Amino acid sequence: MTTPVIVTTQEELETLTQAWVQAGESIAFVPTMGALHQGHLALVEQASQNADRVVVSIFVNPLQFGTGEDFNQYPRDIDKDARALGDSPADLVFAPTVSEIYPEGPGATATQSAGVIGRLFEGASRPGHFDGMLTVVYRLFDLVKPDVAVFGQKDAQQLFLISQMVDTLALPIRIVGVETVRGSDDLALSSRNAYLSPSEHQIALAIPQALDAAGVARNSDEAKKNARAVLEKSEGLEADYIEIVDPDSFLALPPGSPAHQGRLIIAALVGSTRLIDNQLLTFG
Ligand code: PAF
Repeated sequence: MTTPVIVTTQEELETLTQAWVQAGESIAFVPTMGALHQGHLALVEQASQNADRVVVSIFVNPLQFGTGEDFNQYPRDIDKDARALGDSPADLVFAPTVSEIYPEGPGATATQSAGVIGRLFEGASRPGHFDGMLTVVYRLFDLVKPDVAVFGQKDAQQLFLISQMVDTLALPIRIVGVETVRGSDDLALSSRNAYLSPSEHQIALAIPQALDAAGVARNSDEAKKNARAVLEKSEGLEADYIEIVDPDSFLALPPGSPAHQGRLIIAALVGSTRLIDNQLLTFG
């Protein structure tokens, strides 16, 4: 493995990627906002198994943060990220500035719409988040022109919406989802875990415990009830939503649903840190 080249402009990116395409090589893409952890490295590893070359982008996208959210505090350390990728199969890091991605300014950019599903769950609590996320992913796809793009299952609603956009616009990109990577205590790895104090980290463990409690349920109603019971008794944690969605439509399963599968999705605040997690459940 070699240290990846870091470029910041569209021209530099295109020079390298076009040379690969001309040599008949395929490209897998891993978009990130940096603050890389083992979860991101699992995406990079998966990308390398799906194409000849791997491009990782590092860009904290202002369009997907709402007023009062953590855009300014979001951890940024390109040298640390480059070191983390040094031991990975990434070939190229694209770390553009805001003006490189949005030459007219983020506010003057025509945005993608995440539609109905984009306004539910995470989208209901973070209005405009998914429109902003899809806008940057579409823009990055246009610049990188990957054959394959890899995303984590931890952001299940994001993954669903990106797959939906790719289908709707018939983009020639294969989307690959990768299982959530968890710490030894089962908390899903997330760049935002860095905001948690040691005691908040302990409180946050109620989230994977709620997923486990739901995992033994015989149907979706019981699963939701089990998850809710764990989260409600956890002091210091405030659940935003606990829902079970149809994995194919991302719509909530109705009460009494006979579905054999559902994805339990959870968002909760621990202190001021918003955490999300999910698990595919099979009933019966
Ligand atoms: O999941 C993320 O890190 C971001 O939402 C993404 C996909 C890189 C777009 O900014």
